[in-house]
Amino acid sequence: MNTPRPVVPPRYRPRLLTLRDGREVTLRAITEADGAEIVQAFGRMSAQSRYSRFMQHKKSLDLAALERGLRPVPGEGFVFVATVPAEDGIDIVGAARYLRAGAGSGALPGEPAGERCEFAITLVDDWRGSGLAGQLMMCLMRRARCDGYRVMEGLVMASNQPMLSLAHRLGFDAKPVADDQSLMRVVRALAPRSRRQAQAVSRRTPAP
Ligand SMILES: CC(C)(COP(=O)(O)OP(=O)(O)OC[C@H]1O[C@@H](n2cnc3c(N)ncnc32)[C@H](O)[C@@H]1OP(=O)(O)O)[C@@H](O)C(=O)NCCC(=O)NCCS
Repeated sequence: MNTPRPVVPPRYRPRLLTLRDGREVTLRAITEADGAEIVQAFGRMSAQSRYSRFMQHKKSLDLAALERGLRPVPGEGFVFVATVPAEDGIDIVGAARYLRAGAGSGALPGEPAGERCEFAITLVDDWRGSGLAGQLMMCLMRRARCDGYRVMEGLVMASNQPMLSLAHRLGFDAKPVADDQSLMRVVRALAPRSRRQAQAVSRRTPAP
């Protein structure tokens, strides 16, 4: 009798992306060694970008959250980083992640648990307007589909026109958050591509 194979998501192989302004970045999965570079990248973000991303004025990164971000749970969360060569090795110029959507997400009544993930994305300011954000989001959606997610959502400040435009261009619907006028929830369906990917969802869904 065949023992069912655990669904292990394939490793992401780093790739070189050429942006529309001709600059090149390497796109790869985050590693535990990226902590110092993430802190440096945060230091290069403007106060406005930090506010748009974290929805509060942040002077420094929350170290516990940083630690969690460096170790996404395989098959459940994923973090992409876009890097360029730098004197000290590399600089991180953009990052995008998804994780399993938790309580407070926009899950619909009756929606099976474990099918929805939540994204976040940030570019260092010099790299805005380069097309990198769109490419990161496309890779993020493909990877989330591989992990068996059917819906991706994100919380975006209603004043964050760049993110709302980008989400619209990528096919997300935007709706105001009922109890907070300052926020929009952007949501997009991700059709599963195979039975194997669908199994990834049932693996994540706790037994009743
Ligand atoms: C959100 C973010 C990733 C988008 O990346 P970007 O490189 O700025 O995106 P783009 O250059 O593709 O611009 C997206 C759209 O916003 C428009 N836009 C850019 N700046 C704008 C501004 N100040 N006002 C209005 N529209 C603007 C662009 O024209 C583009 O429109 P289009 O899709 O119709 O062409 C980036 O701005 C960022 O890192 N922001 C800080 C973190 C953040 O807000 N994260 C989102 C919350 S998770």
